[in-house]
Amino acid sequence: MPAIVIVGAQWGDEGKGKATDQLGSRVDLVVKFNGGNNAGHTVVIGAETYALHLLPSGILTPGVVPVIGNGVVVDLSVLFEELDTLDARGIDTSRLVVSANAHIIAPYNRVLDKTTERFLGSRRIGTTGRGIGPTYADKMNRLGLRVQDLFDEKILLQKVEGALELKNQILAKVYNRRAVDPAEVVDKLLSYTDRVRPMVADTSLLLERALDAGRTVLLEAGQATLLDVDHGTYPFVTSSSATAGGACTGSGIPPTRIDRVVAILKAYTTRVGEGPFPTELHDAIGERLRKSGWEYGTTTGRPRRCGWFDAVIGRYAARVNGVTDFVLTKLDVLTGLERVPVCVAYDVGGVRHDEMPMTQTDFHHATPIFEELPGWWEDISGARSLADLPASAQHYVHALEEMVGRRISVVGVGPGRDESLVLHDLL
Ligand code: IMP
Repeated sequence: MPAIVIVGAQWGDEGKGKATDQLGSRVDLVVKFNGGNNAGHTVVIGAETYALHLLPSGILTPGVVPVIGNGVVVDLSVLFEELDTLDARGIDTSRLVVSANAHIIAPYNRVLDKTTERFLGSRRIGTTGRGIGPTYADKMNRLGLRVQDLFDEKILLQKVEGALELKNQILAKVYNRRAVDPAEVVDKLLSYTDRVRPMVADTSLLLERALDAGRTVLLEAGQATLLDVDHGTYPFVTSSSATAGGACTGSGIPPTRIDRVVAILKAYTTRVGEGPFPTELHDAIGERLRKSGWEYGTTTGRPRRCGWFDAVIGRYAARVNGVTDFVLTKLDVLTGLERVPVCVAYDVGGVRHDEMPMTQTDFHHATPIFEELPGWWEDISGARSLADLPASAQHYVHALEEMVGRRISVVGVGPGRDESLVLHDLL
């Protein structure tokens, strides 16, 4: 199995880190292809919990080569901090490879992210404040700084001056902030050069050679389908391509070499930040899901908005990603409910929608049409095969599979590395 893509099916935080980590020992390279340190993967190994933001989760598996692809935006100070933390915990990080074409999150873009959000007031996106949006905007505006620019001081200064020409006007005249000195930014960035240099490579070439040699490459998405800049709930999205198509543009691996697309689907739904969320619960049950699922942001610590499972979103994720397998996570969090409502379609102004409405306006006005499935009370965390689950939990899995139209290959029943049921092998 040469190339396999892992994406989030909902609004993120579905548990991609665990799925990637589980495959980790059977893959040779793990590539992060989009986003930056706005992501948050929590991986539990034995008694140790690792929260990764920028680094691919493959970094925790001995022998795997973790790759930061060209589609990623890199905050170098965060990269080094994360590496230092792992080094101090005895993890070997020396195999990390960083694309020469990845864009750098310049310090002024962190400032602009936070300042713009404040300025937007009630129209804010609820970003993570890490400079992600402004950095991708610079990339598309052809004002970005790439990792390779660290190796050419003259070009770096030219690019920083170019980017700051307009940004300084905006900072000073619109936001009433101090203008940024280009020389200071360049000095800061150059202080990272020596440490990053040995990690930098032409990662597209490296990946092609790895695939030609029969190695297995796992491409892991940051964020998720509904946060994708094209296919998500725009404008309440991140600024990168978080769907399976992004795996190709963000890594340099062509579509013809992708063999499998695995989407991670939580047994209920969560979202961080602003934007529409049809099945959101504003009551004690929502609070219960938040507490028992420990639904607090890995990156920002913000409480996540919680709601019931939404099959319309599951079907949509299957479609836009070309999903071959779903991994259903956190089924154990639903234990102890008399009945479990699942959204099967939306009602928009009296019209039933089985698929995602075409317009954002309709999606904002969508009210869920629920079907109630029977709940279960038994502790399921020890289950290791489908037959170990109570009948109604088995029924829940089968019903969801039917609704989303693709097979569910793995079911998560607890946070630990081995707390899963494998119905079909992912590799
Ligand atoms: P940004 O990615 O910081 O620009 O934030 C844009 C939107 O994406 C906000 O609603 C964030 O809360 C959301 N977001 C970004 N990264 C993640 C993630 O890893 N999980 C869930 N939501 C995220």
